[in-house]
Amino acid sequence: MSERVPPDPAGIRRAADALRRGGLVAFPTETVYGLGADATSDLAVARIFEAKRRPRFNPLIVHLADAAEAPRLARWPKLGARLAAAFWPGALTLVVESRPGVALSPLVSAGAPTVALRVPAHPVAARLLAAVGRPVAAPSANPAGRISPTTADHVAAGLGDAVDLILDGGTCPLGLESTVVDLTVQPPALLRPGGLPRDALEAITGPLGRPDGQAGVARAPGMLASHYAPRLPVRLDALTVGPDEALLAFGSPVPEGARVVRNLSPGADLVEAAANLFAMLHELDRSGAAGIAVMPIPSHGLGEAILDRLERAAAPRA
Ligand code: TXA
Ligand code: MG
Repeated sequence: MSERVPPDPAGIRRAADALRRGGLVAFPTETVYGLGADATSDLAVARIFEAKRRPRFNPLIVHLADAAEAPRLARWPKLGARLAAAFWPGALTLVVESRPGVALSPLVSAGAPTVALRVPAHPVAARLLAAVGRPVAAPSANPAGRISPTTADHVAAGLGDAVDLILDGGTCPLGLESTVVDLTVQPPALLRPGGLPRDALEAITGPLGRPDGQAGVARAPGMLASHYAPRLPVRLDALTVGPDEALLAFGSPVPEGARVVRNLSPGADLVEAAANLFAMLHELDRSGAAGIAVMPIPSHGLGEAILDRLERAAAPRA
């Protein structure tokens, strides 16, 4: 098992040293745990793909200690500056054009002429990034295609020895990955709904486009490939539940008869539901049930990101 350290000054120093030496360090952010590597080192970044068994064409988010670094690392549009002023540090990732000649491993962009940047708000992530003094590439710290980790236990269970050190910062407060917006297209496109709701963004950007470049809100069916997948089959919009099924409930009342129940939010609060989503999916997945039934969830606010993850979890497996 990889070593776990508390996020005290000694732990932060050890984690920063490990990153500077090319190691892999899992660390908490306000969204989910990241699997970090020195973004300026090809070898370190390559180890991320190996540890996650992730297809190489999937690019990584580069985490920065400070928004002031963004213009040095990428071509930084005016809209980037406005969004950073409003939402960084926070659960927003901005895809912008790469700047040739900067000290970022091309592996983080997986060959694309763009780079994804984020300044996380979690105090442990902020202290770690400041101590490293370099940009840190970090996908979510789970094996490729599996549920994102919101605790150090999830990281250890999923990645085991593949990670050198886990900074244990407790449970991630938001529990959903960052919202990813592509600023290289007109209008800017919502690539992944996440912890920052669409409404907050659109107040600044105007209506966001779809990943395929068209304006509008419909999801491209091609994006529903199996991802964020529990091992068990997932059934959405369940109003009743079978005796073999585990139930992921939302609100009250809850249908009776399930083998095991977790309620994302008995009071139907979407923020609480987002925070519980991955941890409860992990629990139900290990409950010995034959499948996971999920009650209907509203699509406003954080509901858009929650439904996106659940639809991927329910999609036919590749
Ligand atoms: O909350 C988060 O975003 C977490 C924490 C650790 O920061 N990270 C995370 O990383 O979820 P990951 O690798 O699991 O998801 C990153 C997403 C992927 O959908 C990836 O395709 C997209 O961001 N992405 C990264 N770089 C991109 C680029 N240059 N162009 C388009 N999409 C990009
Ligand atoms: Mg991920």
